[in-house]
Amino acid sequence: MAAAPVVRVRDVTKSYGVGSAKTQVLRGVNLDVEAGELVALVGQSGSGKSTLLNIIGGLDMPDAGEVEVLGIDTLKAGDGKRAKLRNQSIGFVFQAFNLLDHLNVLGNVTIPASFARQTKKDLEARGREALRRVGLADFAHRRPGELSGGQKQRVAIARALFGAPTLLLCDEPTGNLDSETGKEVIDFFRELNEKDGVTLVIVTHERRVSSVAKRVIAMRDGNIVETTDSAIYAEGAGPA
Ligand SMILES: Nc1ncnc2c1ncn2[C@@H]1O[C@H](COP(=O)(O)OP(=O)(O)OP(=O)(O)O)[C@@H](O)[C@H]1O
Ligand SMILES: [Mg+2]
Repeated sequence: MAAAPVVRVRDVTKSYGVGSAKTQVLRGVNLDVEAGELVALVGQSGSGKSTLLNIIGGLDMPDAGEVEVLGIDTLKAGDGKRAKLRNQSIGFVFQAFNLLDHLNVLGNVTIPASFARQTKKDLEARGREALRRVGLADFAHRRPGELSGGQKQRVAIARALFGAPTLLLCDEPTGNLDSETGKEVIDFFRELNEKDGVTLVIVTHERRVSSVAKRVIAMRDGNIVETTDSAIYAEGAGPA
């Protein structure tokens, strides 16, 4: 028997607003992501990429349809079960970094686990290891306001890795990086995928992500179009 997909999305619809202001963002999206895949999700600005990613991650709810992540029906599961899935199995790298300014870098990385039963020492050791992996070992005690955009992005990645996720959802993870740092981040994602077996879905406008993605999916008119053709980047990409 084939293993169940890590992500299974069926007939998902989502709209925002009401009446004449209503925007239908997702129009019956179907998507399977298998264990060990590295998928790039592309499409014009406003096409619904972040909306779909948030729905997969259980941060937002569709109007209708089915969403299963790691065998859990995230729509039927209660808040507690959904939160547990997010904390234990899913890592998020947001389009906006969502770093907390009143915490230092290490505090931002370890916050997802601060409710788990672990000693501060263990948490910090794991947090420092995550920072080391993204090349920020020496920045643990800085505040987010004292970091460059690329460094903030790497803190956000370290935070996502902290819980050793099975599924990593990334929204424009290289959008704020110079091309050299962006390349490092992409290489790092490939390593996570190949060595650690992490399944990744990466929203991106960047062509070079396709060189590491095993599959490229484009969003268009509220649906997804599967493609392996990297030309979609040139055609479908909005401003980065
Ligand atoms: N909370 C919200 N309320 C109302 N409309 C929203 C909300 N969030 C998103 N939208 C609208 O839904 C559509 C899809 O937004 P989404 O953020 O998913 O696009 P995107 O593909 O991620 O775009 P980008 O590449 O610019 O990040 C847009 O038209 C957006 O204006
Ligand atoms: Mg977006």
